[in-house]
Amino acid sequence: MSFPWAKTYNPQHPFTKWMDERLPVPRLVYNAVGSGYPVPRNLNYWWNFGFMALTCLALQIVTGIILAMHYAANAGVAFDSVEHIMRDVNWGWMLRYAHANGASAFFIVIYIHIFRGFYYGSYKAPREMVWLLGVVIFLLMMATAFMGYVLPWGQMSFWGAKVITGLFGAIPLVGEPIQQWLLGGFAPDNAALNRFFSLHYLLPFVIVGVVVLHIWALHIPGSSNPTGVEVKSESDTVPFYPFFIAKDGWTLGAFLFLYTALVFFAPNMLGHPDNYIPANPMSTPAHIVPEWYFWPFYAILRAFTFDFFIVPAKLMGVLAMFGAILVWFFLPWLDKSPVRSGNYRPLYRKFFWFGLIPAMAALFYLGGAAAAEPYVMLSQIAAFYYFAHFLIIVPIVSSIERPEPLPFSITEAVLGHDEKPASAPAA
Ligand code: HEM
Repeated sequence: MSFPWAKTYNPQHPFTKWMDERLPVPRLVYNAVGSGYPVPRNLNYWWNFGFMALTCLALQIVTGIILAMHYAANAGVAFDSVEHIMRDVNWGWMLRYAHANGASAFFIVIYIHIFRGFYYGSYKAPREMVWLLGVVIFLLMMATAFMGYVLPWGQMSFWGAKVITGLFGAIPLVGEPIQQWLLGGFAPDNAALNRFFSLHYLLPFVIVGVVVLHIWALHIPGSSNPTGVEVKSESDTVPFYPFFIAKDGWTLGAFLFLYTALVFFAPNMLGHPDNYIPANPMSTPAHIVPEWYFWPFYAILRAFTFDFFIVPAKLMGVLAMFGAILVWFFLPWLDKSPVRSGNYRPLYRKFFWFGLIPAMAALFYLGGAAAAEPYVMLSQIAAFYYFAHFLIIVPIVSSIERPEPLPFSITEAVLGHDEKPASAPAA
């Protein structure tokens, strides 16, 4: 957003002046993440997770590129090449742990980033495009993480790939040909490993491209804020640099502290011990589980244990699993409330804290639990609530709820008064 009071870039140094006339990259940076980008003065810590996500993406790309220099995408030696990285390559163990735990850290950050959006209504107009691109990023992240987990070619890699590609087999008529086409064979083997490696290397750069669009789309209206009231005057904002660079820097430090604690002190805590056993197509593990960040959706997949008229249970599960993310695409239109932030929506807030959060927490737990009772029944209840929340509760609540009074402006919310209400445009 070009707020009229945004500072204009005024290069002083001969080099920056020279650059500005030829390739104005410093101007772009100044206007995107510098003093030329005004942001709401009341952004809380939940607005720091986008910056952390950017850092995670960069970390994954850097560690991944170095790992790829030593990794061999061949089913005969892939497992050994990972052990070689761990034992023989200088700092290889650290790179591998940083990359594997980096994926977990990235998902923790992104889940918080997404749930911040749910609570504060960040998906609402005029930021629908920011949200839609975010959902695309999330789908790309999941595909990338899934293919990355196959690469060490351990037992969970192999059987995870078998189960997930097997889901496509549930599609009527064309399912099996699709499954074979995806794998390049009848089961995960060299062809599958090679293409997964190739795509696992490619997709992060596609994610970078979509993140650029995500941030571009965000910069058109500018960030929302905890009140959900749009910026009205200069006193509602502060320049991104130095204020939010400093705040983002502090939370980034805290994040890196926790992340490095994981990498150096508990590097296998979030992994599965079976992935230290080489892939063996002749021996199925007792309990096949994906990585923890897939658990909510895995729980939804397994919640469908019965056929729906002519639709078999497996296909229902697959449709529901993808549907659980695809429903987010429609959220900006399912939620009709004129008020954005959950802070001023008493009913919506209750359903968020006492409905969506417990349902999601339960799905996280149940996706990692055994496919037996009572977990299956609990998954069915949690999955039912999950869909009801987005498809029934949010539309109804947004139509009948009486929101609490909004502050006139961000400044008023922060200071208790706003000096210039008369000159400000309407809300
Ligand atoms: C690689 C992944 C991602 C990166 C690097 C990223 C980056 C960012 C950044 C830097 C911001 C501005 C700062 C902030 O509000 O935290 C932002 C805002 C936003 N992001 Fe993301 N994002 C990612 C994924 C997602 C996903 C998966 C979603 C939703 C499904 C999403 C939805 C949003 C929304 C709605 C905003 C605007 C928030 C507001 O102003 O209220 N993002 N993102």
